[in-house]
Amino acid sequence: MRVIVVKDYAELSRNAARMVAGQIYLKPDCVLGLATGSTPLGMYWELTQDYRDSGLNFAEVTTFNLDEYLGLAPDDPQSYHYYMQQNLFAKVNIKPEHTHIPTGQPQDIATACREYDAAIKAAGGIDLQVLGIGKNGHIGFNEPDLKFEATTHMVKLDEETIAANARFFKSAAEVPRFALSMGIKNIMYARKIVLLASGEEKAEAIYRTVYGKITPVTPASILQLHQDVTVIVEEGAAGLLLEGRAQS
Ligand code: GLP
Repeated sequence: MRVIVVKDYAELSRNAARMVAGQIYLKPDCVLGLATGSTPLGMYWELTQDYRDSGLNFAEVTTFNLDEYLGLAPDDPQSYHYYMQQNLFAKVNIKPEHTHIPTGQPQDIATACREYDAAIKAAGGIDLQVLGIGKNGHIGFNEPDLKFEATTHMVKLDEETIAANARFFKSAAEVPRFALSMGIKNIMYARKIVLLASGEEKAEAIYRTVYGKITPVTPASILQLHQDVTVIVEEGAAGLLLEGRAQS
């Protein structure tokens, strides 16, 4: 694991955008794995500026998002479909048919999951996977568990995740209780991974990810076994790494 500590969120966003842009320059028809949440917002903004000012070309790029809340329609402002349109897809020249996000309204959950995995495989796998991290160490919506879920699956969200994500909704009661998420195997098969973390509330999860025991209780800890992971953390989230200790 390569850990890059940066001084603030702006620098984190620029570094992350450089990695994504670099991937697109190296392989214009690359496959990107994309994350949502507040952490990658600055990165997406930087990429839209690169498109506008430097001609970064998304025409041949394919994307697969990590997850989506179950029950939300694509035009629901809280859905990850809507988030991706607002923050990236509508602002660059990506082809809509090249973008993929798990459906929030599957007719049959098992079929939707199987088809999502098959689509990733048919696209040739993910070249660069962008990840955020939950306070509890989740990646995508792979919550702490007794086992690692391999492929795309339905998840029951943890109370901690519901509370953390309530800030995007009118109240915690409105946060969907279930989601579809890529699994750990989908993520680990990506050729390169970049994990982003910002804020002191992520310091414990980051410490456990980098130095902790590899366990499904800290889902991101599995990344220690991947051969090409870059962790970009701003100083707040790197606090315990820099001190060399866990909180508890
Ligand atoms: C959500 C998403 C994750 C994301 C996490 C952290 O639960 N499913 O993919 O990494 O939140 O979000 P934030 O960046 O807002 O802290």
